[in-house]
Amino acid sequence: MATHKAPKAYRQQEFDLKGLAGISDAQVEEHLALYAGYVKQVNALNQELADMLGRGQASGKSPEFAELTRRLGFEYNGMILHEYYFGNLRPAAEPKPSGGSGLAQALGDSFGSVEHWRTDFQAIGEMRGVGWVVLFQDPATDRLTNHWITLHQDGVPAGFKPLLVMDVWEHAYMRDYKATERAQYIEAFFRNIDWAAVERRLREEGAVRHAA
Ligand SMILES: [Fe+2]
Repeated sequence: MATHKAPKAYRQQEFDLKGLAGISDAQVEEHLALYAGYVKQVNALNQELADMLGRGQASGKSPEFAELTRRLGFEYNGMILHEYYFGNLRPAAEPKPSGGSGLAQALGDSFGSVEHWRTDFQAIGEMRGVGWVVLFQDPATDRLTNHWITLHQDGVPAGFKPLLVMDVWEHAYMRDYKATERAQYIEAFFRNIDWAAVERRLREEGAVRHAA
């Protein structure tokens, strides 16, 4: 029987995020541990699916094969979005992108102004349910748009490039804030944005995130 190799395993990425404003080190540490779980799950799923393929059990009629395959979107995006999220945070951050930056220009072109963009992004973050807010760039038009992603995978525009990612699952803030205080967490998130990282994602043609 032919052997089937799982895709190369992903490695958990390191993020040094001590000293954020309004998001405690303990909160970040717990959140990073959750992220590590997604990396493990992605690798385990890929291995299980490769093994099933190797055993001749890859079949659309197999409930096990179907369930494992359906979970790929959840686990992959759970890993990927966290890598973007931690990658766009930093201590001692500037409150907004600098006026002359390409990012400020692009936000102005797509939303009228940086302030308009922020109002929209924050409003989406306060929607009910668990998920993410992502500022995407459409590589085909360069247009920037804000999107709500339910769980980790529902609502992702195919092929769009994430520029700024905000986690609004309760696990992202419930050590520091109450469930009803999401708006305060969002304010804190905005005090820790690494605008230079966002600018790099805008400038680079391909996706830019910590990954291996
Ligand atoms: Fe999270």
